[in-house]
Amino acid sequence: MDRKKYEKDMRGAGKLDYEIYLKTEHLLACQKATEDLCHPDELQFMIVHQIEELWMKLIAASLLDANDEMRARNSLKALTLFRRVHICQELMSQQLTLLETMSPKDYQQIRLLLGNGSGQESPGFRVLLKMPADLWTTYKDVYLDGDNRTLEQVYDSDYRHDDAYMVAEALAEFDEQFQKFRGDHMQLIYRTIGVAAKSLKGRPVEILNDGMRQKFFPDLWQVRADMTDRWGSTYGEKRDKLTPSSDA
Ligand code: HEM
Repeated sequence: MDRKKYEKDMRGAGKLDYEIYLKTEHLLACQKATEDLCHPDELQFMIVHQIEELWMKLIAASLLDANDEMRARNSLKALTLFRRVHICQELMSQQLTLLETMSPKDYQQIRLLLGNGSGQESPGFRVLLKMPADLWTTYKDVYLDGDNRTLEQVYDSDYRHDDAYMVAEALAEFDEQFQKFRGDHMQLIYRTIGVAAKSLKGRPVEILNDGMRQKFFPDLWQVRADMTDRWGSTYGEKRDKLTPSSDA
């Protein structure tokens, strides 16, 4: 196969409407040229990271819109936007597995080029860490304080499976998907550089465990725990064993 010719064709001429609209010339120039790659797998390494940044850009834009829709109490529209966010989050986790096709040794060569860069410097990730606090303020203002309701009522004593409940669950899903990404990313680290390794900043990889315990919306997790305790108080900490019913 004529590698040079195919690689040139892959870049396109940038003149057709499709190429102009999607700015393919710029997009496809955002990766190193083949001759500059330290290893063939470096292309995959760059592309996966770049795509992850794009998904985070879309997630952040969708969360901004979802926040506006919540403020206006357009809950159905907000829920559609949250669904988009959740799908992007699932894609972010799924894509990490691509990097498991790179051998630990091949990655070591790529790692030599990364300076002391860290995923913690990702602009998208840093923004996503900040947004949940604002989303929670909006949720509380509109769906709780605005309706003079508590989370306990939304989930239990006045439970109606209404928009206040559905939007809260969409926020919980964001939290859960974020943790799933962190968990899958940790597995990727274990697979690639090992369990006891140090990051490029010289820190033990275990520092990421703190993030894996982070909850953006602690009240949404607490409300379930409180419910379980309340409902469980009828049978105490441990229930009696079931007995076969008389008509069985
Ligand atoms: C072979 C692949 C990868 C390895 C070996 C790896 C390794 C690491 C390590 C060691 C850290 C801790 C850094 C520190 O101490 O500051 C880290 C953090 C991080 N990485 Fe990766 N990573 C990989 C791929 C990715 C990909 C594809 C993404 C996509 C976005 C990513 C996003 C992040 C983020 C966001 C953090 C910060 C996490 C947090 O603070 O909870 N990493 N990575």
